[in-house]
Amino acid sequence: MNDERSIMILTGAGISAESGLATFRGPGGLWEGHRVEDICTPGALAADPALVHRFYDLRRAALADVAPNAAHQALARLDAGWPGALLIVTQNVDDLHERAGAKRLLHMHGELRSALCAACGDRVSWCDPLPPGAPCGACREPALRPDIVFFGEMPYHMERIEEALSRCDLFVSIGTSGAVYPAAGFVQLARHYGAETLELNLEPSAGSDWFAESRFGPASALVPAWVDELLAT
Ligand code: APR
Repeated sequence: MNDERSIMILTGAGISAESGLATFRGPGGLWEGHRVEDICTPGALAADPALVHRFYDLRRAALADVAPNAAHQALARLDAGWPGALLIVTQNVDDLHERAGAKRLLHMHGELRSALCAACGDRVSWCDPLPPGAPCGACREPALRPDIVFFGEMPYHMERIEEALSRCDLFVSIGTSGAVYPAAGFVQLARHYGAETLELNLEPSAGSDWFAESRFGPASALVPAWVDELLAT
């Protein structure tokens, strides 16, 4: 294989939809019937911690019933087989990319299976429900919260992400509506730095016009086909 282009891949809830996890927006989406501000902001956590914890406890429990689909598996295959630089940046808080075997992966919006101590910043694995008020193992403060980036908070790993965006030759966006910044602006940055851009999504996203190429359909079909194309070059 002669192709050693540097690839950056952004994924969103659409890649996990066919595994059975609800997306955020659209019919049956997680935000349908919920006000984002009631659940996914620092203010909501302070005002009604039990509600916020219940929302994430349910989502964490749902992970036990789902498995990576053909799209996650294809990205893991690409990660293992691609000789050039590659980075998968996911907005998803599920663990399906890593369960499929992806290694070059960053969770920019946090992870359901991690707890963050709001007092000391320590992180612990969060597999079983933690009782409200459970003390942090490091500082003993009862300040453990979901390790999720709430609206109004700074996404994780932004320095590494911006560096990868500035160097990538190909930027690919998979299963995201392009409704939430800064991820929604990555395509513009990648273009600015001269990358080719490709969108793989069920339907046109808010940012579709920014992509040089868009392919529409289910991720479980589009992603393996695209990976096969790349690995054949
Ligand atoms: N294959 C490909 N794309 C799909 C599929 C599928 N099977 N099913 C749905 N999609 C597309 C939808 O058309 C939509 O454009 O996935 C996208 C999902 O969009 P959102 O629900 O908005 O999810 P996402 O873009 O990941 O949301 C971004 O918003 O609420 C916050 O922090 C949360 O990380 C999340 C962020």
